[in-house]
Amino acid sequence: MIQTNVDLQPYNTFGISCKAKRFATFSNAEELSEVLSQRNGDNLLVLGGGSNILLTQDFQGLVIKNEVVGFDIIESNEETALIESGAGEVWHDFVMRCIEEGLGGIENLSLIPGSVGASPMQNIGAYGVEIKDTFDSLKAYHIESGEVHTFNHTQCEFGYRESVFKRALKGQYIILSVRFRLSKKHTINSSYGAIEAELKAVGIENPTIKDISNAVIAIRASKLPDPREIGNAGSFFKNPVVEQEVVDAIGQRYDQFPQYPAPNNKIKLAAGWLIEQAGWKGKNFGTYGVHKNQALVLVNYGGSKGSQIYDLSEQIIQDVRTKFGITLEREVNMI
Ligand code: FAD
Ligand code: EPU
Repeated sequence: MIQTNVDLQPYNTFGISCKAKRFATFSNAEELSEVLSQRNGDNLLVLGGGSNILLTQDFQGLVIKNEVVGFDIIESNEETALIESGAGEVWHDFVMRCIEEGLGGIENLSLIPGSVGASPMQNIGAYGVEIKDTFDSLKAYHIESGEVHTFNHTQCEFGYRESVFKRALKGQYIILSVRFRLSKKHTINSSYGAIEAELKAVGIENPTIKDISNAVIAIRASKLPDPREIGNAGSFFKNPVVEQEVVDAIGQRYDQFPQYPAPNNKIKLAAGWLIEQAGWKGKNFGTYGVHKNQALVLVNYGGSKGSQIYDLSEQIIQDVRTKFGITLEREVNMI
């Protein structure tokens, strides 16, 4: 059933109040097809958990919320299992279920908000792991033809917070299910600095995948604001990947700053560090601002408009460009 004039506040983790002209949910390809048959040329917005969007204005179109459920073991051998999840499943619940089943590979991605179906959109990543490391394939509904197409790893063109669905195929597909190849013989990935320290603090020497998950949950809870308390969409910007000469120029002004090797001899810098150095960390503009513990996270303290947060992001981009010669790119999807 299609509802009209629906407030999207409960459907986005920024907690922005904006109206959708029309709103519907779907739980399988047939229902999706039925809803789309009533599209009447409207703009379309596909929603999962709404944890990576900023609503800057009312949406004069049709919002469709993905509620496709399912957890299936497609194939299983001594070493690995191929698992398929419905796109509307909550990502963190999926991670927990896999850990319970003894399946490793995504435990470092615990507590990332949102749906399984959105995870390939930006190749979600945290603590040294990205979904591309265990991704097998996905099924997606082609909006124009109504056909369901399968995409393998190569076809998804994953990059840092990137996939083909954010670029060449933007707005053309709705992801229905995702398959992951997970391992029964676990490779523990605790190399990301804070994980080792957290494990040491709780006295664990030989961590299991559950221990890694618990450590990641503890670190994330200490750093990132909980959207149920303060509206946000995680990192608002991507970490910039720059040439060595940009790093050298910053090195003339600062003794030490975070930097990580990136492909093609480039270097990834920490946008949070750049924003903090530019003086924005903790800035509070009443209803919105920059988080006090993590400058990469813009927040809605309650009652902010999406356009105010967008304007703040624009000011930060300009200021960081002036101070460091680096143009930050937004990670969050502007609607
Ligand atoms: P939504 O916000 O609903 O949608 C995001 C985009 O994908 C939109 O453009 C939407 O139209 C599109 N989309 C959604 N579902 C589908 C579908 N089924 N088919 C086609 N298009 C679709 N991200 C990370 O990578 N790493 C992190 O560590 C991380 N930490 C976070 C921490 C917090 C506190 C928050 C609030 C967010 C964080 N994020 C992180 C961002 C966010 O959790 C991820 O991007 C997540 O995958 C978004 O899922 P969603 O279902 O909420 O997507
Ligand atoms: N830093 C500062 N000031 C700040 C914030 C960070 O100096 O205000 C410094 C930290 O001290 C550290 C470095 O920047 O040296 C990196 O910080 P952190 O480890 O907190 O991670 P991040 O680079 O800010 C990225 C992802 C997160 C992911 C974490 C953990 C991006 C855009 N963000 O954040 O993803 O959870 O690493 O892997 O890549 C998201 O995408 O929404 C997200 C939260």
